[in-house]
Amino acid sequence: MSVSQDLFPLQEINSKYAAGDSVMSFGNHPKLAHCPGGGLALHQDGGAVGCGGKIWIAGECLSSYLLNNYDKLFDGKTGEYSTGEEFNTAHIVELGSGTGLVGLVLGLVNAKYNPGMKVFITDIDDLVPLMLQNVMLNHLENEVIPAALLWGEPLGGLVEDNQLVDANTLDALTQLARQPPMYIKHLKLVLAADVVYLEQAFPLLESTLLQLTDMNEDLEILMCYRKRRKQDKKFFARIAKNFNRIDLMNFNEEEEAYYRKCRVHLFKLVRKPKK
Ligand SMILES: C[S@@+](CC[C@H](N)C(=O)[O-])C[C@H]1O[C@@H](n2cnc3c(N)ncnc32)[C@H](O)[C@@H]1O
Repeated sequence: MSVSQDLFPLQEINSKYAAGDSVMSFGNHPKLAHCPGGGLALHQDGGAVGCGGKIWIAGECLSSYLLNNYDKLFDGKTGEYSTGEEFNTAHIVELGSGTGLVGLVLGLVNAKYNPGMKVFITDIDDLVPLMLQNVMLNHLENEVIPAALLWGEPLGGLVEDNQLVDANTLDALTQLARQPPMYIKHLKLVLAADVVYLEQAFPLLESTLLQLTDMNEDLEILMCYRKRRKQDKKFFARIAKNFNRIDLMNFNEEEEAYYRKCRVHLFKLVRKPKK
């Protein structure tokens, strides 16, 4: 498995991009033992349509966290993000999913332990075909739904229609449009890995986080990012007005030391009460 250590504008790193198929077992993680091949099958496109076409270290870290803490977070009765009966219709949305890594790992575990739960993996339009390919590689058509969600764009239409999937985004999505739409009121959690890296996108990402939590103040955001540039601070200063940041780390000693060395931070964002 190759995980990117650096993040530069695409044209500078094209040659370093990984491409091809691999299986990610997360150290033969028991929560993935039921998967054919022992883990997530993932295709990376070599950066053909943007930096999301390969996996990034924060995506790997957030996936590990979800695997290690799955029961604590998603147990049908006692999980932090469980809501009793309704839980089977709970939805989770991932922003800037790239290959779909984090949402797909969660989908694989849900398929066995929470079959009603849907994970929407979202990114720019151009990455929807790659996400779809990875959904199909893992036979997760019922659990994981790829869709375009451009940060900063109004979610208003989505709310009115109560639906995130736009079947016109990609022909193949019409096949998936048979899925129940993502009713915003059922959204329980937002996931975001390695999405803080481009200063121009900070206000757009902030706008999407605000729109989502305006609709549901209890909605939490699990975010993981690798600190690369001083400018990243600006994003966290911006969002501090509206969100509390609660740092998380729950790995074994070795993993924890590795992620700390790589300056990877994992935390949840909780919306501050509106004044
Ligand atoms: C560094 S990649 C991380 C991919 C994946 N989450 C991972 O950890 O492997 C950042 C992702 O954010 C997406 N992204 C950047 N700007 C975006 C925007 N304005 N709207 C939606 N997605 C965006 C990119 O297309 C890319 O897939």
